[in-house]
Amino acid sequence: MEWTKSRYLWFTRINLSFGACVVLFLVPITSTVLGHPPIKPSPDPGPAWNLGGILGQGYDIDVEIGTPPQKFKVLVDTGSSNLAIAAAAHDYIESFFIVDNSTTFVNRKKKVKVIYAQGQWSGYLGQDIVSFPTIKGTKPILTDLSLITESENFYINNSHWQGILGLSYAALAQPHGKVVPWFDRLTKERGINNSLTLQLCGTEAQSSNLNHTGSLFVGEFAGDCNLDPKFTSPIHHAWFYEVLIVKMFVGQNQVEIPCNEFNTKKTILDSGTSDLRLPEKVLGAVLDLMRSQTQDLDLPQTPQSWIGGDIICWYKDSEAWHVFPNITLHFAHNNSTGFSITLTPHSYLRPVMKANPSNDSFECWQMGLDKSEEETVLGAVVLEGLCVQLDRKRGLVGFSPSTCGPTVDIQGLFNVSDIKKCAYVPSSVNPLMLTAYIMASISLVLLLPIMFVVVRRMWETFLKPRVQPETPFISLDENNT
Ligand SMILES: *[C@@H]1O[C@H](CO)[C@@H](O)[C@H](O)[C@H]1NC(C)=O
Ligand SMILES: *[C@@H]1O[C@H](CO)[C@@H](O)[C@H](O)[C@H]1NC(C)=O
Ligand SMILES: *[C@@H]1O[C@H](CO)[C@@H](O)[C@H](O)[C@H]1NC(C)=O
Ligand SMILES: *[C@@H]1O[C@H](CO)[C@@H](O)[C@H](O)[C@H]1NC(C)=O
Repeated sequence: MEWTKSRYLWFTRINLSFGACVVLFLVPITSTVLGHPPIKPSPDPGPAWNLGGILGQGYDIDVEIGTPPQKFKVLVDTGSSNLAIAAAAHDYIESFFIVDNSTTFVNRKKKVKVIYAQGQWSGYLGQDIVSFPTIKGTKPILTDLSLITESENFYINNSHWQGILGLSYAALAQPHGKVVPWFDRLTKERGINNSLTLQLCGTEAQSSNLNHTGSLFVGEFAGDCNLDPKFTSPIHHAWFYEVLIVKMFVGQNQVEIPCNEFNTKKTILDSGTSDLRLPEKVLGAVLDLMRSQTQDLDLPQTPQSWIGGDIICWYKDSEAWHVFPNITLHFAHNNSTGFSITLTPHSYLRPVMKANPSNDSFECWQMGLDKSEEETVLGAVVLEGLCVQLDRKRGLVGFSPSTCGPTVDIQGLFNVSDIKKCAYVPSSVNPLMLTAYIMASISLVLLLPIMFVVVRRMWETFLKPRVQPETPFISLDENNT
């Protein structure tokens, strides 16, 4: 279905009550009903999701800490490795862990600080009994815990979570080498299979409700997700869940950028991020292709300008869904093959809360693509609608279809040449190496006179008597005396 200019009655830019967001209205004269967008029906009866939260504020899970247990919710984050809980009051949280009320709490008397892409906190290390009652197969366990006493841009007002569960590798845990992450301890001490499965569902289709749901499974439990997914990608380096993107498409058009740019300086799976965040150069190329493919929409603003919070609205059931292109990411499967994950606009256009919920004739959306500093972050935009298995035992990330969330298509395997070229290789002259070279040169310069003196001594003592006095060594010697 083509969109033409004449189909738009008007558009305008207004300010909604939330923030200073610019709103673009695209209202077609004839709002043809084209059938519902490709969103799966919610499974019936709904499984017992153990993840909740509000769109744009992360997925949270119930946790109980201490003896007697104090109940909280923590953000589920595959992009970090500390389990941390609020231990001091903050305007944005309704409760915090009172260490003095727990008979099992141990203060490890060490400072800890974690800085995320956005936000940071600091506090001290402790240990206590922690349990996640809604994660099947887990038991309460004595584990390292970070107590947050100060923070900056960390908590979100009304998000109703008071801490964070970092599910990545120990290599990221702070302070370095001093903390065993919760899941490492669980697998080691309780013999649980070293694998996690994440099933993020996003918000319910066609609903004004912006709560999202999902599930986190451990070990051999995976709900209705496949425990042995066909499409796997090796974990390139076990710190973050780092994988390799080998190709990208917008609609049918390939993003013509050398593939190592997609992974510069890394590509990670991060449930604690909402968007698909791309390095500047890659994002620019993706948005250029998107603009060329949405020209018929005659958007009052280019897709580029939505980045950073602009909002677009259109009539419910409008054709816009069919005009916005799919985004396809190809991942490495092994040395020579890859598979693709295709996201429809339902994945990368995120619904936003309307200022006036009573006006039910249009829907508003925000671009779920964003710019990053030198990394690709596969946030909820990519993870929703899939079962994602973090198979730490085999060093693989597996993707399989999910019964909930937006429709995401997985295809493969395809032959891909030169997959190795897609890996980011740190420049050989990094600052540390450069420093090392400079230090080596300085030592050499300092050593030269000493060596010279030594050589001259040796020359004078052992060699001089045996060679002709005309040899160049003598002139050199004289010059320097
Ligand atoms: C902590 O302990 C104090 C003193 O025993 C008690 O008054 C208070 O209610 C407890 N707070 C919580 C959250 O359990
Ligand atoms: C947090 O949200 C509540 C409820 O929406 C609001 O009353 C309060 O002013 C907010 N707090 C801050 C510090 O913005
Ligand atoms: C990659 O290919 C080489 C030979 O082409 C093979 O020796 C190596 O084992 C392969 N590595 C993986 C991870 O498949
Ligand atoms: C986008 O992907 C969906 C799901 O895979 C597919 O049904 C649809 O045909 C694709 N759209 C285009 C324009 O290729």
